[in-house]
Amino acid sequence: MFEQIERVPGDAILGLIEAFKKDTNPQKVDLGVGVYRDAKGNTPVMRAVKDAEAQLLENEMTKTYIGSHGDPRYGQAVLPLVLGEGSPVLEAGRASATQSPGGTGALRLAADFIATQLPGRSIWVSDPTWPNHLGIFPAAGLTLKKYPYVDGNNRLDFDGMLAALKQIPEGDVVLLHACCHNPTGFDLSRDQWGQVLEVLKERKLLPLVDFAYQGFGKGLDEDAYGPRLLAENLDEVIITSSCSKNFGIYCERTGCLIMVARNNEQMENIRSQVAIVARENYSNPPAHGGSIVAEILHSPELTATWREELTEMRDRINSLRRDFVEALKPYGLDEKYAHVAEQKGMFSYTGLTPEQVDRLRDEFSIYMVRSGRANVAGFSHDNLPYLAKAIAAVN
Ligand code: LMR
Repeated sequence: MFEQIERVPGDAILGLIEAFKKDTNPQKVDLGVGVYRDAKGNTPVMRAVKDAEAQLLENEMTKTYIGSHGDPRYGQAVLPLVLGEGSPVLEAGRASATQSPGGTGALRLAADFIATQLPGRSIWVSDPTWPNHLGIFPAAGLTLKKYPYVDGNNRLDFDGMLAALKQIPEGDVVLLHACCHNPTGFDLSRDQWGQVLEVLKERKLLPLVDFAYQGFGKGLDEDAYGPRLLAENLDEVIITSSCSKNFGIYCERTGCLIMVARNNEQMENIRSQVAIVARENYSNPPAHGGSIVAEILHSPELTATWREELTEMRDRINSLRRDFVEALKPYGLDEKYAHVAEQKGMFSYTGLTPEQVDRLRDEFSIYMVRSGRANVAGFSHDNLPYLAKAIAAVN
C-alpha cells in the first residue's frame, strides 16, 4: 500500500534549519526560522525562565494530567497579558483560555472549532501570510481565501486590504496578525485597526487574531492594541496567542486559544466545545511551558526580570533594523531598503526576489525564506558588513 505514496519537499521554513546546519562556510548567516538570536547568534534561555524552572524543579509535586484546557494558572496569567489588566472583557467573564501546544496548536484548535461548529464559513488570510496558515486551515477542512496586504512596491496596501474586507461574505472568518506581521513586518496603525473594526462590524465577520509575537513590536501593551480593540467592541473574537517566542521557550510549545463570546454563558458553551476539540487532537496539552509562564507571571520579581529581558530583545531587533540600512549606505542601497527600519517584529519582507535569495544562499551561505523574508534577529554587528556586501552583489 505504501508504495503509492510520493515523497514531498519538506516545510520551506523548517528546511532552512537543516540546510544551514550542513553548510560548512564559516561566514554563513541564518536569517531563516523566526527565533530570537543574541549578538553571538545564540538563542539563550531567558534568566526569568531559568529561575522559574529552578522553582518548578523544587516545588513540582505531580506530573498528572492537567486537563484539556491546560493549567488554570496559565490561563489566568495569559488572559490579562493579552486582553489587558482590568479588561472589561475579563470583568464580564466573556473570555476563555485553553492552553495549546504552541501558537500553531491554538490555530489548529481554532480551525477545528470553526470547521465543526461554524460549518460553511471560509477563512480569509492576508496575502502574503505565514505559510503554515495556508496548510492548517485546509487541513481542518476549511476553504481558505486571501485578501491583499502588500502592493507592487513592497509596501502595506491598506486601501486594497480594506476594500477586499468589504467584499467578504457575511459571517466568514478573517485572520488578522495582531502585530509583527509574519512575513512582512508591516503592522496596522491604531487608526487602521479602527477602520478594520468598522468593516468587521458592518459585514458581521468573525476575526481570528494571530498573536504570536506580543512584545516584539512596540511593547507588550502597545502590541495588543488590535486584539483588545476588537475584543472590547465585538461580541465574538478568536485570538491565538503564543508564549513560545516572548518567553524564548520555543521547544516547549506554549500557546493559548482565547475565545471571546457575547456573554459568560455563551463563553462556557463554546469552552465546552473547545475541550472536545483539544481532546480529539491531543487530549491534554504538554504542561512544562505553561508552568514556566505561570510561575513567571504570578511572581512580581520574575515578571519584572522577564519584561526587562523582552525589552532588551525588542530594542536589539529595532536597532539592528537601523544598522542594516546604514550598512547598505556605502552601496547606495539605503533608500531601497529603508522600509526595513520601519517594519516591526522579527521579520522583514526585504523585497529580495526568490532568485536573489537563491544567489545569497548559493554564493554567500546566507539563508532566508524564498519570499525574501529575513529574520532580523539573525543580523549582528559582525555579519552586517558581509550581508551588505552580499546584498549589493545580487542587486
Ligand atoms: C517562523 O515563521 O519562522 C516561525 O513562526 C516558526 C515556524 O514555525 O514557522
